[in-house]
Order: sequence, then C-alpha cells, then structure tokens
Amino acid sequence: MLEQLSQLEAEALTSLEDAEDEADLEEWHRSYLGRRGRLTLLLRSVGDLPKEERPAVGRRGNQVKRALEAAYEARRETVRRASLARLLAEGAVDVTLPGRPTGPGHLHITTQTLREIIAIFAEMGFQVYEAPDVETDEMNFGLLNMPPHHPARDMWDTFWISDTLLLRTHTSPGQIRVMRERYPEPIRVILPGKCYRYEQVTARSEHQFYQVEGLAVGHGITMTDLIGTLTQLARRLYGPERSIRIRGSYFPFTEPSIEADMDCILCGGEGCRVCKYSGWLEIAGAGMVHPVVLRNGGYDPDEWSGFAFGMGVERPAMLKYGIDDIRLFYGSDLRFLRQF
Ligand code: PHE
Repeated sequence: MLEQLSQLEAEALTSLEDAEDEADLEEWHRSYLGRRGRLTLLLRSVGDLPKEERPAVGRRGNQVKRALEAAYEARRETVRRASLARLLAEGAVDVTLPGRPTGPGHLHITTQTLREIIAIFAEMGFQVYEAPDVETDEMNFGLLNMPPHHPARDMWDTFWISDTLLLRTHTSPGQIRVMRERYPEPIRVILPGKCYRYEQVTARSEHQFYQVEGLAVGHGITMTDLIGTLTQLARRLYGPERSIRIRGSYFPFTEPSIEADMDCILCGGEGCRVCKYSGWLEIAGAGMVHPVVLRNGGYDPDEWSGFAFGMGVERPAMLKYGIDDIRLFYGSDLRFLRQF
C-alpha cells in the first residue's frame, strides 16, 4: 500500500505537468483528489488494512494528499499567469483602453413635462415662484379660508410633521406667500412643486405628485382671463384644435370655483376608454381668488381681483405618452425612465 501511494503520487505529479488550462486542472483534481478520485479511494481503503499497518499508511497517505494539493495550487498559479501573458500578447486585453464611460443621464419625465408647462406660461408672462414643501397648517389651510373646524379640510388628508407643520397637500399655500411678498404689485406667477396626500397608492393616485399653481392678481381681472389662460395652455400642450369646458365646482379659497376640462385628446370628444366615455378630460381646478384669501395676502378685494388654478403634472404626461400607472413615475425603474 505504501508502494501504491508513492506510485500514485509520482504519476499524479507527472500528469499535473500536462495541465495547460483551467479545464485540464479541474479534470486532474477530480481524478485524483475528487470525491471518487484515485487518492481518495485509496485512502478510504486504509480501514481494511490490518490494524498495525494503518498508522504508517495513514500518515503517508496524508502526506501525499498535502503534496498533491500544494502542487495543484502551484500549477494553477502558473497556468493563470501563462494565460494572462498569452492574452496580453494577443492583445485581447488592452490595458491602455479607457474605462467604459457611464452614459449621461437625462431629465426625469416629470421634469420634462414641468418644463414644458413652465415654458408655455412664461410666454404668457407668468413668472416662476417656489414655495416650501413643508408648510404650516395656517398656510396650507387656515389662510386659504379653511379654519381648523372647516369640513373642507377632509378633502386633503396629509402627513403631519408636528401639530402645526405638515407636508403641503397642494401648491395653493404659495398664493399667500407670493401675495405677501409682492403687495402692492400686480401678480402673474406659477408655482410648480411637489405635493403630498395621505392616500391609498394605486395606479391612479400616489401619495406624492407635482402640481403647478397659477395666480394672477390685478385690477379688473375676470373669469374670462382665467378661461382664456387655461384654453391657451390646453392648446399649446395638446394642439390648436383643443376646446375647453367649464363646470361649476367648489374650493374654499376661490369664489366662484370651477373645474376645467378639455375635449379628449384621444377620441376628440367621441368617448373612449381614456376619457371614460365622457369625451372630456379634467385639466385643472380653478376659480376667482376668494376675497378672504386676497385679504389674507394683503390685497383689498374691493380694489383687486384675481384668478387661481391648480393643475397636475403627472397626469398630462400620462395622457401624452399613454402611461397607465402613476406609480411608474416614482418607481426608479430605468426601463421605464429611459423611454423618455
Ligand atoms: N388646490 C386645489 C387642489 O389641490 C386646486 C386649486 C388651485 C383650485 C387653485 C382652485 C384654485 O385640488
């Protein structure tokens, strides 16, 4: 048995010299040191020997095993270096090649849509104004004619930061901030930004989304100006053939309040799945700024009048590109984002 071991060792070491690549090495390892390898099987039979022979054979067996393992590792390193040298010689690895650049990113679809909307209003003379996402209860509700007990607060459930601070549910509190800053100048601004609502997240509603608020305050501003502005917006966004429909509505901070729809961009008013067979798509909530709100902003309602509107940003993008799930906007899935 000792003889057999020495023979096997010599044979294994010789055949290891022939291993030229990873595959050869693996094959060699399996045939000598693997679970059913020759050395393994031989060592397993030590138990069949007479008791007095076992220690010596066992010792020698382990010695051979260690020797083969060491030889294997050494050979492996040699093979690895040789193949690297070969690759370099063949030029397959050009170490002077610059790394692969990561491509430039691009604007998020929401940002693109927002900028499109901003550009349209800019042409109509609206300046862009930004207001904070974290607002006081007073700004988000109170000064917009919704004192603490007001039932209309139920229309906008939100995330509270403290008893008096919250994540704004709409961009409307920006109206108060602009008025207080601009008085006694006439105002024509839009306020784009993120809003938050404590909502069940579905394909149609997210707990965060963008709005663009519009506010015009001046002398003799009427509902006609509001309707003209929204008509112009719809035509610039979706084509000159668009028409607008006005419905009476309710918001605590406008009086009268309206809801503006435009004829469905898909069916042109015939009725289809997108407009839920009504022929119309809602584009904005709006109205004439409530006298109380004007006063809260510092403007005397007997002298000044104004209009305000609030529109979504994701929804127009969804319409334009046929996106049927609003959650995709915040999912960070590059397969979605790269399409725009
Ligand atoms: N703030 C309202 C909303 O979020 C929209 C609105 C803005 C309505 C301005 C009228 C005037 O639903």
